[in-house]
Amino acid sequence: MTDQNKLRLGVNIDHVATVRNARGSAYPDPVRAAKLAEGAGADGITAHLREDRRHIRDGDIDGLMAALSTPLNFEMAATDEMQAIALKHRPHAVCIVPEKREERTTEGGLDVAGDDNRLAGFVAKLREAGCRVSLFIGHEEAQIRASARIGAQVIELHTGAYCDYHYEGDYAARDAELEALKAGAALAHSLGLEVHAGHGLTYETVAPIAAMPEVRELNIGHFLMAEALFVGMKPAIAEMRRLMDEARDG
Ligand code: PXP
Repeated sequence: MTDQNKLRLGVNIDHVATVRNARGSAYPDPVRAAKLAEGAGADGITAHLREDRRHIRDGDIDGLMAALSTPLNFEMAATDEMQAIALKHRPHAVCIVPEKREERTTEGGLDVAGDDNRLAGFVAKLREAGCRVSLFIGHEEAQIRASARIGAQVIELHTGAYCDYHYEGDYAARDAELEALKAGAALAHSLGLEVHAGHGLTYETVAPIAAMPEVRELNIGHFLMAEALFVGMKPAIAEMRRLMDEARDG
């Protein structure tokens, strides 16, 4: 496989912090998990500092910035507080996500088209600090065009609905969603955006997303951490890596 064709795997370690916080203990340590993930083949580490700090905390970001040898993809909401934290750390990448307090996870994509004036300034400040800015969006054409217009370098396409339809057994809806993701990836690429994808991906759902030629990086967390409970983190990440490479080659 050529480097150009290689798909990067970003491992999201939020849920190591979820388990830690459930008992208010000092363990398991998300930084230790991140180092292990790097050793197991992760090309980068993703961590989402939510406004309510329900999993990753400020100290975890300090620890990750100090310890990682791969790039940190810092996920955050488009708030002044989070922007100040990003500007302090200057991580390799910042992925801007929508955040609602009551949600269990990031449920939808960012409304870039509806908030483009504010987001343009927000993105520019992060870019000036040297961060690669990614916007987590759905596959709608308006959102993709707005992302390019306001100066983001990257979009991350939300694969959550595609995965949900798969596990609900609604294969017609899943396949329609997949086609829409493919069209979105092609449009984004044609506009000069780098395309990433993620949310809800598992061994069963990863291949069609990994096979999309415009996609350069997948960010995967919950399933990998769940699988790690049974087989350990290293084999879980290695198997995901294998499935991604197989889909890419095929
Ligand atoms: N990408 C983004 C932007 C996310 O917000 C998340 C969840 O935090 C993921 C990828 C990873 O999703 P999952 O944990 O379901 O693999």
